[in-house]
Amino acid sequence: MSVTVVVGGFYGDEGKGKIISYMARRDSPEIAVRGGAGPNAGHTIRDAGRTYKVRMLPCGFLNPGCRVMVGPGVQVDPGVLLSEVDEFGARGRAFVDRMCGIITPDHRSRDSGLVSRIGSTGSGTGPANADRAMRVQGLARDCAPLDGMALDVPAEISSAMRSGGGVLVEGTQGTFLSLWHGTYPHCTSKDVTASAICADVGIGPTAVDDVLVVFKSYVTRVGDGDLEGELDGAESERRGWSERGTVTGRQRRAAPFDYALARRAVMLNGATQASLTKMDVLYPACAGATSYADLPGEARAFVERTESELGVPVTLIGTGPCVDDVVDRRG
Ligand code: IMP
Ligand code: MG
Repeated sequence: MSVTVVVGGFYGDEGKGKIISYMARRDSPEIAVRGGAGPNAGHTIRDAGRTYKVRMLPCGFLNPGCRVMVGPGVQVDPGVLLSEVDEFGARGRAFVDRMCGIITPDHRSRDSGLVSRIGSTGSGTGPANADRAMRVQGLARDCAPLDGMALDVPAEISSAMRSGGGVLVEGTQGTFLSLWHGTYPHCTSKDVTASAICADVGIGPTAVDDVLVVFKSYVTRVGDGDLEGELDGAESERRGWSERGTVTGRQRRAAPFDYALARRAVMLNGATQASLTKMDVLYPACAGATSYADLPGEARAFVERTESELGVPVTLIGTGPCVDDVVDRRG
């Protein structure tokens, strides 16, 4: 078993949630651990006729044999986390690190200025990171509602690795929302590339076996900032690329797949593999396919061009909204 880090290659909403849930079920890691910024991230997962929207709970919860954890670098909104734990039946196997920062109503109200200025999600994550940097923030170890859920996440990961258990590390946001590598000031409040996600959960770079960068077959962006090749609303609607944000419900802006941006994401994250999601939106004949041979020629040509442009194999291909709508070429 191994340590795999999954991150987004564009501006978030690449379909990481679905890919991570698929891996959690298929690979049965002992621990699925979430890094990233905080409840500003939203993953939508569809499985067996049910839709799950998670903002704090790691997507690995879908495998009932998986312990799910939030790393110390992540800002935790206890109300959001606890309601997801109860709603999705993860009580008893969901944990946070003792050192996670706690988001308060004050952080959320201080975010309102950023909503208008840079298109923030308003979840309080940015102001909470500011307080953490000023060393005035409250931590999970002192948060009574999280009693019994707070532990030492890096130590749990290390012990799972020593006993041969797999660890699936979930990134949030996307490479170009990184505070260091993204479209500043239209970006999130910290780095969110694979290195940062590893630091968030307490894993050193030498412990990582694979970095999977997830790309959607087209690019979307919610909120302000650059978007090369952006389509107008009518055209993105016509192509079926018009989506709404999981956290804010805002309309996502859309553009065609961007190879230059994807190459940069491969570089910044040290990718060893790539994933392409929503292939069925680009090529409807892909819908629900689970074998590569069943993809139409055009779709296979897109996959092969992507591999040659990026220099990494495209191992997981999303062919529909449900967790098992995946072509898995990992062998
Ligand atoms: P904040 O991180 O909530 O302050 O938002 C800063 C920018 O990042 C805004 O444009 C948000 O829409 C965007 N953003 C933050 N998290 C996500 C995410 O998980 N998916 C997509 N966009 C995000
Ligand atoms: Mg999202």
